[in-house]
Amino acid sequence: MSEEIELDEVTEGGTRLFVPRSRTEKGPGAIKGSVFYNRQMSFNRDVSVMFFSSPMVKVRTALDAMSATGARAVRILNEARPETEFHVNDWDVKASAVIERNLALNGISKGKARNEDLRCLLAKETFDYIDLDPFGTPVPYLHAAFHGLRRNGILAVTATDTASLAGTHAKKCVRRYQARPCRCVFGHEMGLRILIGYVARQAAMFDRGTVPLLCFYADHYFRLYLRMPETAESADESLHNLGYLHFDREGHEREVGSWPKDKGWAGPLWTGDICDKGLVESMSAGENLAERSRCEKYLQIWREELSIPYFFENNELSSHLKRSPIRLASLMEEISLHGKVSRTHFSPTGFKTDLPYADVAKIYLSMDG
Ligand SMILES: C[S@@+](CC[C@H](N)C(=O)[O-])C[C@H]1O[C@@H](n2cnc3c(N)ncnc32)[C@H](O)[C@@H]1O
Repeated sequence: MSEEIELDEVTEGGTRLFVPRSRTEKGPGAIKGSVFYNRQMSFNRDVSVMFFSSPMVKVRTALDAMSATGARAVRILNEARPETEFHVNDWDVKASAVIERNLALNGISKGKARNEDLRCLLAKETFDYIDLDPFGTPVPYLHAAFHGLRRNGILAVTATDTASLAGTHAKKCVRRYQARPCRCVFGHEMGLRILIGYVARQAAMFDRGTVPLLCFYADHYFRLYLRMPETAESADESLHNLGYLHFDREGHEREVGSWPKDKGWAGPLWTGDICDKGLVESMSAGENLAERSRCEKYLQIWREELSIPYFFENNELSSHLKRSPIRLASLMEEISLHGKVSRTHFSPTGFKTDLPYADVAKIYLSMDG
């Protein structure tokens, strides 16, 4: 029980939480303490609070399947949706005891602490929203989640195995996600899209579609919010969003295709939208969020970001074209005279445009003094 662990009371966002005295302070993958709490993931939980702030998110019953201290569900209940019947689960008995204490600390009556292996729980019960937040890859838990998700439910997934998805451990990505990653300047976007594509392919086997509501990369983890309608038509439609990305390492051109080329391809991956603009428009950054200004900044970028499945890097242009760097804002302004352009949340020095690399390079060179 929780008396075995020493707890501290902290405030994250607008919520008081008991968290283990021995806890992780850095890195999403680092694990310290018997019940897990990582302050660095507070932005990830802020986004959950913002997600539930949208009136477009209609959830009656929810499961935070891997909840540790209960931080995410308790914050959603306390800061956004007190009326949700939230089952807050962890298979570790010590974690479940901490969850109970955190629900009580915040006077939450609609939260219910659970203590089961999520795969057993989801074999018996169904929910409108399921959250998977494992150490590393979510792959072992996806089928259980499809089984326990109601017909038009929402699945939220965190993946911290970015090294394999973004191409540092390419063989692992092939084994785990049956997809080839791309170690390149936009490798993290490829990783996010491989993850969505993998979920979509697995879900299609069970006649479930995949509709991205909000998918992003931050602080070395990927996070997905997906609507998953249970119809064969939506599964078929989702599969149309799968494709391959070809990257020419010499000319730096990017191209999306439906089949892999001889060399330089990544995928299969999700080539469609990764964000529902209407939903992101309806989300708000409340005053009490742990990292409010960062949340506002991300919301703004998600709202603007073009749905092109790759981006360009200012530093990439400067080193490939062997010219001194140009201010990103000036470069984007110049590009906007010729095509569409937006910032990207994947990189502070990156941008998206519908122009081919050759045109972007020409503009870059024309601007260089
Ligand atoms: C990364 S932590 C979750 C962090 C938490 N969501 C948060 O925001 O602080 C992963 C948790 O999943 C739990 N877990 C792992 N496998 C599980 C399973 N099969 N069923 C239920 N819980 C599981 C672990 O005990 C651990 O507490």
